[in-house]
Amino acid sequence: MITIRNFQDSDYPVLCELDAPMFSGMGGPILFRHIQELFGDLFLVAEMDGDIIGYILGGVHLEDAARGKLIRIGVCPGHQRKECGTQLTAELFSRMKSRGVTSVHVTVALENSAARSFYAKIGFVQKEIRENYFYPDIPRLVLEKTL
Ligand SMILES: CC(C)(COP(=O)(O)OP(=O)(O)OC[C@H]1O[C@@H](n2cnc3c(N)ncnc32)[C@H](O)[C@@H]1OP(=O)(O)O)[C@@H](O)C(=O)NCCC(=O)NCCS
Repeated sequence: MITIRNFQDSDYPVLCELDAPMFSGMGGPILFRHIQELFGDLFLVAEMDGDIIGYILGGVHLEDAARGKLIRIGVCPGHQRKECGTQLTAELFSRMKSRGVTSVHVTVALENSAARSFYAKIGFVQKEIRENYFYPDIPRLVLEKTL
């Protein structure tokens, strides 16, 4: 059974290890600390039999509190396609809704077909392609979902 719970400080080294192969060069250790400080209640982990198997990080726009962002989600390769991602997003969106968030956006690499299928399955729709979103010259697909 998968349990979704808040990230806690003792998870930090494990999470950094899990994140590195999935998000190589995308600054997980630094990102985790920022999100822990800014949006601790939107930083969740999925646990199974005492092991962390997935995580999700969200945030809310300062200038528009009704607009949320799914910042990062990762599920260990050995535990994918078992609804862990679905459960993590459901809990994140429920918490966002209770904070007054009505829409969530996320960006994804164009070539990440697994993540694109996942986001489509849970109700995200494509809004635009943003060229040069990440340095240097890396485009991202912007997706949005109404909560
Ligand atoms: C994207 C990701 C979070 C999905 O997590 P998950 O726990 O495997 O997702 P779920 O089991 O909840 O999948 C729900 C549905 O999404 C779709 N889906 C998920 N992974 C898929 C894949 N590899 N190929 C096609 N569809 C997929 C399916 O419709 C699936 O339902 P089904 O298994 O009944 O067919 C996971 O693949 C992952 O961590 N990938 C590496 C990191 C990453 O790319 N993160 C997103 C960056 S923007």
